[in-house]
Amino acid sequence: MTSFRTELASPQPGRGSLPARAHLRSDAPHQPLDGTWQVRRHPGGAWSEIRVPGHLPLQGHGAPIYANVRFPFPVDPPFPPDDNPVHDHRLEFEADPAVLAHPSVLRFEGVDGAATVWLNDVELGTLRGSRLTTEFDTTGVLRDGVNVLDVRLAQWSAHSYLEDQDMWWMPGIFRSVTLLARPEGGIRDVFVHASYDHRDGSGTLRVDVDSDAVVTVGVPALGRDDLGAGESHHFRSVDPWTAETPVLYAVRVHTPAEVVTLRVGFRTVHVEDATLMLNGRPLLLRGVNRHEHHPLYGRSVDLETARAELLLMKRHNINAVRTSHYPPQAGFLDLTDELGLYVMVENDLETHGFEPNAWRGNPSDDPQWRDAYLDRMRRTVERDKNHASVLFWSLGNEAGTGANLDAIARWARRRDPSRLVHYEGDRRSLHVDVYSRMYASTAEVARIGAFTEPEDEHRRTLPFLLCEYAHAMGNGPGGLSEYQELFHRWPRLAGGFIWEWVEHALHGGTTADGRTIQLYGGDFGEPVHDGSFVIDGLVHADRTPGPGLADVARVFAPVELVIDAGQSTLTIVNRHHSLDLSHLDAHFPLPHVPAGATVTVPLDLPSATLSTLSLRDRVHGHEVAWAQYVPPRSVPVVPATAVPSADLRLGPAVFDPRTGMPVRLGDLDLHDVAVSLWRAPTENDRGRGSEEYDLPSMADRWAAAHLDDLRTRLIEITVDDAALVVRTRSGPPVIDAGVDVTWRWTSDGEALALDLTIEPHGPWPCDWARAGLDLRLGRPTGQVTWTGWGPGPQYPDTGQGARYGTFTADRDTYAVRTVRPQEHGARRVDDATIDLGGTGLRVRGVDVPLTVRPWSRRTVAATAHDHELPAATSTWISLDAAVSGVGTASCGPGVLPAYRLAPSVQRLRVVLQQPIRELPAATSSYQSVSEPSP
Ligand code: GAL
Repeated sequence: MTSFRTELASPQPGRGSLPARAHLRSDAPHQPLDGTWQVRRHPGGAWSEIRVPGHLPLQGHGAPIYANVRFPFPVDPPFPPDDNPVHDHRLEFEADPAVLAHPSVLRFEGVDGAATVWLNDVELGTLRGSRLTTEFDTTGVLRDGVNVLDVRLAQWSAHSYLEDQDMWWMPGIFRSVTLLARPEGGIRDVFVHASYDHRDGSGTLRVDVDSDAVVTVGVPALGRDDLGAGESHHFRSVDPWTAETPVLYAVRVHTPAEVVTLRVGFRTVHVEDATLMLNGRPLLLRGVNRHEHHPLYGRSVDLETARAELLLMKRHNINAVRTSHYPPQAGFLDLTDELGLYVMVENDLETHGFEPNAWRGNPSDDPQWRDAYLDRMRRTVERDKNHASVLFWSLGNEAGTGANLDAIARWARRRDPSRLVHYEGDRRSLHVDVYSRMYASTAEVARIGAFTEPEDEHRRTLPFLLCEYAHAMGNGPGGLSEYQELFHRWPRLAGGFIWEWVEHALHGGTTADGRTIQLYGGDFGEPVHDGSFVIDGLVHADRTPGPGLADVARVFAPVELVIDAGQSTLTIVNRHHSLDLSHLDAHFPLPHVPAGATVTVPLDLPSATLSTLSLRDRVHGHEVAWAQYVPPRSVPVVPATAVPSADLRLGPAVFDPRTGMPVRLGDLDLHDVAVSLWRAPTENDRGRGSEEYDLPSMADRWAAAHLDDLRTRLIEITVDDAALVVRTRSGPPVIDAGVDVTWRWTSDGEALALDLTIEPHGPWPCDWARAGLDLRLGRPTGQVTWTGWGPGPQYPDTGQGARYGTFTADRDTYAVRTVRPQEHGARRVDDATIDLGGTGLRVRGVDVPLTVRPWSRRTVAATAHDHELPAATSTWISLDAAVSGVGTASCGPGVLPAYRLAPSVQRLRVVLQQPIRELPAATSSYQSVSEPSP
């Protein structure tokens, strides 16, 4: 045990393993060892069953810890703390005679933590590098009959200092374990080099094979089954691989003893004039960062789930994935090859926890860690080097700078000159092929695109990408379109990867009333944690899309349809890399538009009719691009024929003489009608925007101004012609700023029209979250039906995916529930009915932001988890004159100036009445409204 503990403090790579190589699809026998193993706490615990692959803390052994940057242990490299959970894993198994008939290896694809491995009491070696493959030679150790495999696993080791990714710390054998027969005279490794020459459409193939036998290479689809290994072969014509055309050729590599099959794509990625090029054409990455996460199984994500994720990405016009921040399970890259997504494979390396200590002792620049760095990079590249979809090797994430990073960059480039090297942390860009940043503002990205940023000569030769941007946390991400416009404008900008794809909530069971409990940092009693910062994805942990995904689909659309102002022309911009539009179905005459081209055609749309032009993928069925012509609309006119009575009745409404506010509309009691400027802070409102990082967050500014606590004074109630005019003054306590509000009510006897003016007075210390009115109805709504923009919500800098139409959503869908409750769900409506079952409230206007939810804003703001929100008993409604954008200040820039709501005069015109229309049946998901599945 002493030596096990001592060795945990070694910065050296694991020992005893075989040289890294590709995962190969071979006809040699293999034996999966996944299944039920035994586990016990070391020393002295009792054995119990555990599922492999799986994480210990998700199966009752210890607890997950969520920490982003900070190490949850003393920064004392290379030493782990003594308080270090160790578990013994044991599997007894009968060796498969087919495997036993050959030399054999034991392969671990991912073991989180640091382990020592024994087979039949023979020590095979140690495992380091949690998300990397390790193979041990088991020849002569594997025996006939029962074998005993032991894995002693510690949570912490020297290598924890290299594995500080922003995710859950969860030890365990979380990927597959397999025994592989390695026949004598078989194939140890293969390295495929397949390039495409766009000038003449030819392909070149060289297959390097590590084998002691005579090797033959066959490419049946190209009519060859007799190619030599290690030689370049030229093919006059091949179909190139792109994410749009993921053409793969089966390649058979065989020796008399073994056949290995690969699927090979011909493609060439390079940089030319500071532009990222694929097969001779500029390439735009419309990407996402993907962690492996499952709410029940953590980083053990099965391939069916991964495939479903990739299909969901493709259906939303996403064409690239950065495997943040470690190589994914090997089979994932077979899927990206097959389905067509560009991939940046990232090394399993992050030392971010040194940053809070001014990077003192950072392993990246300390020679004692050099071998570990090289070992990790080597294992990353060697495993995944045969995948067409992999265009970039990323050295790691947020590991500072230093000689060890420089060394692995040089190694990767030497080993695989056919791909580009990426590392964001290299601020000099000395050892990389692309200039990469995370969360740079659009202003800065524009300067980089235009080459007006001060840069040295070397950097000016590099294309630029955002390895992370548009932090998709909670309500957001705001401001996607502004980035995309820049990507389209400047060839140097190769696009980027949104942070991030999937939220990392862990399943915590179900409440008595059937709500799923979703947990985040701190929920497991961790003393050091980063709360909900791990919940920041476009899709929820169970992969149901959040509203941001529809916006991404629209902003990433590879085709742009522009209807001109007079509806007489349609301009079609084809932003595909290489496809024309013949793979798309249109219900209007679609001209030939080659990739990269723009074509304008005449159009004849009736000016009074809503028209939607839509392009759908013929094979997969999803909508790729759309545009709408929405005719001009105006606020409904309600003739002011009813006259206010002395006891403050006006048409269907009754007003309270003490407040001047309506308290009844037809058969509905209206409660708490008031003007309001606050929202329940979003995660982005709670962050400090990078452009004003020295200032408090928006949420804190609002809190300091008591924006959530407006007090109102009635000034006067007058009758002006047939209008009841109420003037109030509202303001927060403490400060001498506020708003003067004029409520002008009229009615035709049936409907109640409001013309509301909100006028700021005094020195306002902060921008507003919104400006409008709140009210409460005494019963929960079942559903909301609206004509306006939907089905998803819209804030000034989100909602690009929302279109004009008529939609229905149940209460939860309308409110948009997020793991951590926050303001969400505003739709811009022209005509909405909030159904209370037998009665309801109808609201009409033009583009009125409407939020409807079964909780007050204060409750939303004070509740930490969705499942803790109380059951619905009332309905809180807001009708706004204006709302602020949401930005991405949870990590990155805040709300762009154009989308902020500075105190200013605001006007809201709406008509309130009881429902008079038939309500359609509720639908509850975004998908069902916007996207039939393929
Ligand atoms: C980046 C980091 C990611 C994640 C993100 C914020 O700095 O690379 O891993 O932490 O910020 O969610």
